[in-house]
Amino acid sequence: MPNITKQGAEERNAALAAKFKSEHAFPPKLSGWDFYRSIGSPKYIVAPMVDQSELPWRILSRRYNADLCYTPMFNAKLFAVDARYRNESWAGLKDGLGGGGPNDRPLIVQFCANDPEYLLQAALMVAPYCDAVDINLGCPQHIARRGHYGSYLMEDWPLISSLISTLHRHLPIPVTAKIRVFPEVEKTIEYAKMVVESGAQLLVVHGRLREMKGHMTGVADWEKIRAVQEAVSHLVPVIANGNILYHEDLAKCLERTGCVGVMSAEANLYNPAIFTTQILESWKLADEYLAICDELGDDIKLAYIRGHLFKLFRPSMAIHTDLRAELGVVQSKEEIWAVARKMKERLIQDAEASRRAGENFEGCVDEKGFPIMPHWLLQPYFRKPMPDQQQSKKEDGADDDEDEAIAASATETGHMHDLNSFGCEQHKIKTFGVQQQEQQQNQTIVPQEAVGAVALEIMANAQVAVETKSS
Ligand SMILES: Cc1cc2nc3c(=O)[nH]c(=O)nc-3n(C[C@H](O)[C@H](O)[C@H](O)COP(=O)(O)O)c2cc1C
Repeated sequence: MPNITKQGAEERNAALAAKFKSEHAFPPKLSGWDFYRSIGSPKYIVAPMVDQSELPWRILSRRYNADLCYTPMFNAKLFAVDARYRNESWAGLKDGLGGGGPNDRPLIVQFCANDPEYLLQAALMVAPYCDAVDINLGCPQHIARRGHYGSYLMEDWPLISSLISTLHRHLPIPVTAKIRVFPEVEKTIEYAKMVVESGAQLLVVHGRLREMKGHMTGVADWEKIRAVQEAVSHLVPVIANGNILYHEDLAKCLERTGCVGVMSAEANLYNPAIFTTQILESWKLADEYLAICDELGDDIKLAYIRGHLFKLFRPSMAIHTDLRAELGVVQSKEEIWAVARKMKERLIQDAEASRRAGENFEGCVDEKGFPIMPHWLLQPYFRKPMPDQQQSKKEDGADDDEDEAIAASATETGHMHDLNSFGCEQHKIKTFGVQQQEQQQNQTIVPQEAVGAVALEIMANAQVAVETKSS
C-alpha cells in the first residue's frame, strides 16, 4: 500500500512538473560547481532569516558587497495552498515579479517542509524568480519541533532524501540545503554525503548542534565544517556558517574551513556593511534602508522594519532609552520614520560632542579584548549567557529562545537590547568626556587585525563555560 501511494505521488509530481515546464522556458539545469559559477561564485552570503532577510534588507546588503541572498524561510505547505500566506510572505510574487525582479539576484528561496509534494508545488511557484530552492534542515526552534521540520528531520534521513530528490528530479532549477552538524564528525560527514547524493547542488553547513540556540548558541565548530567541505566539495560547493562577528572573521572562516563562501545572519543584521571593510554610522544605514522601503511602497511589514531598526540602533537604544520605548509602540510608517529621524539627530550630536571632547576609540578594546566602539557606529551583538535559574526552564523546552528571537525580530522590546556581558555592558554607561577618558586609560590596546581572532577565542572560552554548566 505505501508503495502504491508513493508511486501515485511520484506520478502526480511528474505530471505537475511537466505541465509547469510546458508553460515556462528554462535554460538547462546546471549542477554543483557549474551552478555556483553561473551565479557569480558568491563568497559573501546573507543568510535566510525569518522576518529579516526580506527584499529591502537584501537590496541594502547587496549594496554592501553581499554576493548572494536567501529569502526568509517559508513554510512549503502554506505557500503551496494559501495565496494570502504566499503574497504576504513574499511581497512582489503576486505581481509576477518574484522577490524584487532582476535586481534581487542571485537569490535562493528557502522552504521548510516535510512533504515532498507540497514542497515541489511551492518550489515550482518560485522557480521563475530565483536561482535555486533551499531546504531548511537546520531550524532548531520549538515551532520546528512541533511542525516536524528543520533540524528535527535530522533523524529522518529517508524523508530528507525524498524531499531533496523530488526537487532534484522535477524542479527546473537546482535544489540546495542548509544543515546543522551532529556531535560526531563521522556522522556529520555521512549526513552531508546523503544530502548531496540525494541531489543538493550546494550545501551550507551551520557548524552548530541542534541544541545550540538562544542563550546556548555558543561557538560554531569550524573543524566540522572543514571535514564536510573536504568530504563533499569535489561534488558541490560548501558554504560555512557561524561565528562571524567582525569583517576580519570572514577571511578567517574561509581559511579555516576551506569553504568557498561564508554566510552571515546576526552579524549582517547588526551591521549590513559586514561584508565591507567600512565602519559606518548606524543612522546612515538606517536612512538608506528606510529609503529603500519607501521606494518599494507599502508591501513591507512594519514589524520587519521595526525589527531592523532595533538591531541597527541597538547600542544607542541603551543610551537613548526614550526612543527605544517609542519604537516599541509605533503603529505607523510615519511614526517609525520619525523615531529614526530623532535617533539620527541625537547620534550626530553625540558624535560631535565626542569629537569636541577629543575622544579617540581607535585600537581600544575592553578587558575581554573586544573593540570598544562608540554607540553610533554599527557593531556586533553578543548574546548574554543564560542565568543559571533560567537554564533548567529552557532545557525543559518550556520556553524556546529561538522562537523568542524570531518573535523579537518582529517586535523587539528592551530585553534583546540589554547589552551583553562580554564588555559591551560598558557601552551602556559610556557617554562622553571625563568618564570616557578615565575608562580609556584602563583599556588594553591590541592591533586591529587580532580582533577577529580575539573575539573567537573569547567566544570559545564562553562556550567552554556553557558546556561545563550544561554537562
Ligand atoms: C532573526 C533570525 C532569523 C533566522 N531565520 C532563519 C531561517 O529562516 N532559515 C534558516 O535556515 N536559518 C535561520 N536563521 C539562522 C541563520 O540563518 C544562521 O544559520 C544562524 O543565525 C547562524 O549564523 P550566524 O552565526 O551568522 O548568526 C535565523 C537567524 C536569525 C538571527
